[in-house]
Amino acid sequence: IMKRYFVQTFGCQMNVHDSRRIEEVLRAQGYREAEEPSLADLLVVNTCSVREKAEHKLMSLLGTLRPLKEQKRGIVLAVAGCVAQQEGEKLLKKAPFVDLVLGPDNIPELPALVQQAEQGAPPVARTVFDMEDPQFLKASPRADRPEVSAFVTVMKGCDERCTFCIVPYTRGSERYRSADEIVGEIAGLVAGGVREITLLGQTVNSWHPPEEADLKPSSRRAPSSSQFAGLLRRIVREVPDLARLRYTSPHPRHLTDPLIQAHVELPQLCTHLHLPVQSGSDRILRQMARRYTAQEYISRAKALMAAKPGLTMSTDIIVGFPGETEEDFQQTLRLVEEVGFVAAFCFKYSPRPYTPALKLGDEVGEDVKDERLARLFALVEKQQQKHLATLVGTEQQVLIEGPSPGDTGRFTGRTERNEIVHVIAAEGVDPTGTLVRASIDEAFRHSLSGLMPGASTPPSPSKPARKQLTVV
Ligand code: 5AD
Repeated sequence: IMKRYFVQTFGCQMNVHDSRRIEEVLRAQGYREAEEPSLADLLVVNTCSVREKAEHKLMSLLGTLRPLKEQKRGIVLAVAGCVAQQEGEKLLKKAPFVDLVLGPDNIPELPALVQQAEQGAPPVARTVFDMEDPQFLKASPRADRPEVSAFVTVMKGCDERCTFCIVPYTRGSERYRSADEIVGEIAGLVAGGVREITLLGQTVNSWHPPEEADLKPSSRRAPSSSQFAGLLRRIVREVPDLARLRYTSPHPRHLTDPLIQAHVELPQLCTHLHLPVQSGSDRILRQMARRYTAQEYISRAKALMAAKPGLTMSTDIIVGFPGETEEDFQQTLRLVEEVGFVAAFCFKYSPRPYTPALKLGDEVGEDVKDERLARLFALVEKQQQKHLATLVGTEQQVLIEGPSPGDTGRFTGRTERNEIVHVIAAEGVDPTGTLVRASIDEAFRHSLSGLMPGASTPPSPSKPARKQLTVV
């Protein structure tokens, strides 16, 4: 009989990508996707621990899955991802009904471990980093639902030591994928219909050819964006059918001139960059060990925007880091205005296990964090609105990803700068997977609407569902 899996994913793009690899590993063993957890023989929870009370969230989800596990004999429950890596064996003690705990580097072992569990093996935790022989599971084009846009991993782990961040602990130190493997995977995806690739890595622009990184470990300390820029050039050269190239998340200290030059040279490189800043206060940046000053960040951002006119930027910001004063926060607001971010992910600082910032003490009160977060949101929202409004009346190239959610008859895609556009196509045309020109007729809170040539406006345009409207 055919076995069925259900994968539940929390957290970042990296985790979404890992969940896809988990599914591929299982499908290769003949598993198929179950429509809901209750129909699955194997439940996988892919967890995140970068923020929030991740473990708490996991424990409450496990609580809801437990009855399923108890009802149905032979069902296997696996916990994967960063909480799995962080907790390891401890998780099996806290939740004895869990069968498998699996770190991010142990995905290939999943089928064998599931089989052992089915045969009655005791619960087991596998959380071993593949430092000696790093593996990058290959992403293949989806046969079941073809995709327009896909992620490709270029490096994993993180050698930065940002004092708030648990990632170096849960994902290990940096390992780089070979350019041949990266280009090969992209070529395969593009041959399968993908038009846009986003290169993925914790500090994606610190990429080195793996052989160089191994020979000169100390070189990792130096900014290395010339190697990354070289990788971008090679991808564009060797995969001529690739329409758009993006990367996330870069570290500001590796945004050096050679990388800015690549943005100028390569038309496929999209005119948007997500560049996490975290704070606008030098004092806080130092405490965070971010290794740049506010002014350095601003100069690099401005150099990029000057070199590539029309490029927009978004960022990540933490409010309420230990010791953050009102004046520090004011400096963050000023930086947001000065760079002119069109979007930002804003987070309240949350203490994470095993991180150096735990020792700083001097915690900012929850009410102060809430209040700063609200002010920051309001500023970002204002800048986003202003930016989207400037696009009304312009023509934009939109890469159409598929029908819009809900029954609107529209199609949803993204501009080169990653703004979401809900377009009306000409009668009977399905533009999915193509680049179309759309004239923008309206700006919503977090998205735009537009018309393709030959389309006519319906009498009352139905507004798209709000929850889909995030500009990243
Ligand atoms: N508290 C709050 N936000 C955090 N981030 C990472 N660690 C923490 C933490 N302990 C945020 C950073 C990072 C994003 C992925 O998550 O802004 O860029």
